Amino acid sequence: MPEGDGRKPEDGGVPPGDDASPEGAARYQGPRATEVEAPAKDPEKDPSYITRTRFMTGVAIAAGGVMTAAILVPVVGFAVADNFDSEPARWVDAGPMSDFPEGETSSIAISGPDPEADRRAFVRFRDGEIVCIWNRCTHLGCPVSYSPGGDVFACPCHGGAYNSVGQVTAGPPVRPLDRFDWKVVTADGEDVATRLDPSGLRDVSPDDRLLIGVPYSLNDSLEIFKLKAPGEPLDGVLKNLYPLG
Ligand code: FES
Repeated sequence: MPEGDGRKPEDGGVPPGDDASPEGAARYQGPRATEVEAPAKDPEKDPSYITRTRFMTGVAIAAGGVMTAAILVPVVGFAVADNFDSEPARWVDAGPMSDFPEGETSSIAISGPDPEADRRAFVRFRDGEIVCIWNRCTHLGCPVSYSPGGDVFACPCHGGAYNSVGQVTAGPPVRPLDRFDWKVVTADGEDVATRLDPSGLRDVSPDDRLLIGVPYSLNDSLEIFKLKAPGEPLDGVLKNLYPLG
C-alpha cells in the first residue's frame, strides 16, 4: 500500500493510498467515485419467478375452473342431450275386446323393457273412444291405482292425483299420466280402429283384439310429445331445462 509522503494534503502532500505514480495506481483495487453499482435485480419482476402470491393465485384460478366445470358440464349436458331413450316400436296383444267392455276402465299388465317393473295399462273405453293410460306416476314413477268409484287415479307415494283421463288434479306430478298407442285388429290382423281413427270402434267385435303400442307423453293441453321420464315437465318455465321431442 502506498504510504504517502508524510505531508498533509493541504501542504501539498500525497495522502496514503492515493499515490499518483503508475505503480500505485496499478495496486489500488477499491471502488472509484465514477463507478456506479448496478441496482439489485427485483426477482418479483421476473415473470418466471414463482412467489407465494403467484402460486396461490394460480391455485385459486385452477380450483375455480374445476368447480365451474363441475357445475356447468352436467347442466349443459342435461339440457342438450335427450335423457330418456324411446322404446322400439312394437305391438303387444292385450287380449280380445270382450275383456275391455265399453263404459269401463280395465287394468291389464303389459310387458316393458324392465320385466321387474309393475307396468300396467288402464284401458278406458268410453263414448266410442279408447284411452290407454300408463300406471307410472309422472312425479317420480310410483305405480298409480285406479279408483272406479271416483273414476280417478291416485299415487300412494306423495299424494299425486289425476282425473279420469290422467290430467293432474293434485300433488307434485308435473304433467298428465303418459299413454300408450293402441289399435284394434281382427283375428286376421286387419285394422278395425286406431288411436288416430277410432271410428271403427262402433262396429268392434268381442273377438277383435286390442294391441298396445309404445308409450308417449302429453302436456296439460293433452298435446302429444315423445316419451319423457318422470319429473320432466312439458309446460311452464322448467320445461326449458329439458329437451323437447
Ligand atoms: S311418485 Fe307419484 S306423487 Fe310422487
